Amino acid sequence: MFSPKSPPSIPRDPPPPSHPIIQTPRLLLRSPIAEDIEAIHLIRTNPKVAEWHNSTNSTTPVSDTEAWLTRIFVPRKTFSFVIQLLFSATPESSIGGSGPIIGVLNMTINPKTSFSTIGYFIAPEYWSQGYVTEAISASLFEYWELYPDGLSGSKRDGENGRAHVDATVIAKNMGSVRVLQKCGFKLVSYEEVEDWHGGPNIVLDRYRFWKPDSLVDSPRTG
Ligand SMILES: CC(C)(COP(=O)(O)OP(=O)(O)OC[C@H]1O[C@@H](n2cnc3c(N)ncnc32)[C@H](O)[C@@H]1OP(=O)(O)O)[C@@H](O)C(=O)NCCC(=O)NCCS
Repeated sequence: MFSPKSPPSIPRDPPPPSHPIIQTPRLLLRSPIAEDIEAIHLIRTNPKVAEWHNSTNSTTPVSDTEAWLTRIFVPRKTFSFVIQLLFSATPESSIGGSGPIIGVLNMTINPKTSFSTIGYFIAPEYWSQGYVTEAISASLFEYWELYPDGLSGSKRDGENGRAHVDATVIAKNMGSVRVLQKCGFKLVSYEEVEDWHGGPNIVLDRYRFWKPDSLVDSPRTG
């Protein structure tokens, strides 16, 4: 009950959203709404996109995409975005979305390594126009601002104690490898694994992007 003798309450800023809206020159990165599911599903199950992922093919049901979106948008444990094209030059009129959904950028903690790991895809008609490079660069900048120690529960580099983000890519996926190189990721390891689609074994490369020096705080192991 309110008492006149109670100290005045201290106004506090609301906590920052764990999935902020990020705007780049050509893109809006935001959380999904129900109306996005069909568009995301169509892109995710496009054979040219699914070819590079172990979890989808053209018969994947839309309920799988819905469940996947729920898994990659867990507050504070993931850092993921729907990638939407901006048609308008004015930020205010674009938020909420006038352009099409073209893909997804997701960061989750890999359960095998406990490392923060990104994944991404966009619809084939938008490939090689710099969109994913633009999305990753902008989102990583926000990521270190919002999560200076990395996602809650993510492990740091065992050798230098620095926070980092990983990406695992099929070595022959040259478009994806090029994106990672352009964004400043470095190859740290590789392994040969069985092909998800039943073909000959494939090589999986692991790329790593360490928190930039200018943002590094005191290292800890983890
Ligand atoms: C990989 C993918 C995300 C790249 O997105 P994107 O928006 O086209 O990437 P960008 O345009 O930012 O950069 C692509 C770069 O790769 C290059 N590239 C594309 N295909 C290439 C190929 N077959 N060989 C060599 N380079 C290639 C492009 O020229 C570009 O490099 P540049 O800017 O130096 O010219 C997109 O192709 C995709 O969704 N692919 C299917 C799903 C997938 O592979 N996801 C990643 C799983 S790890």
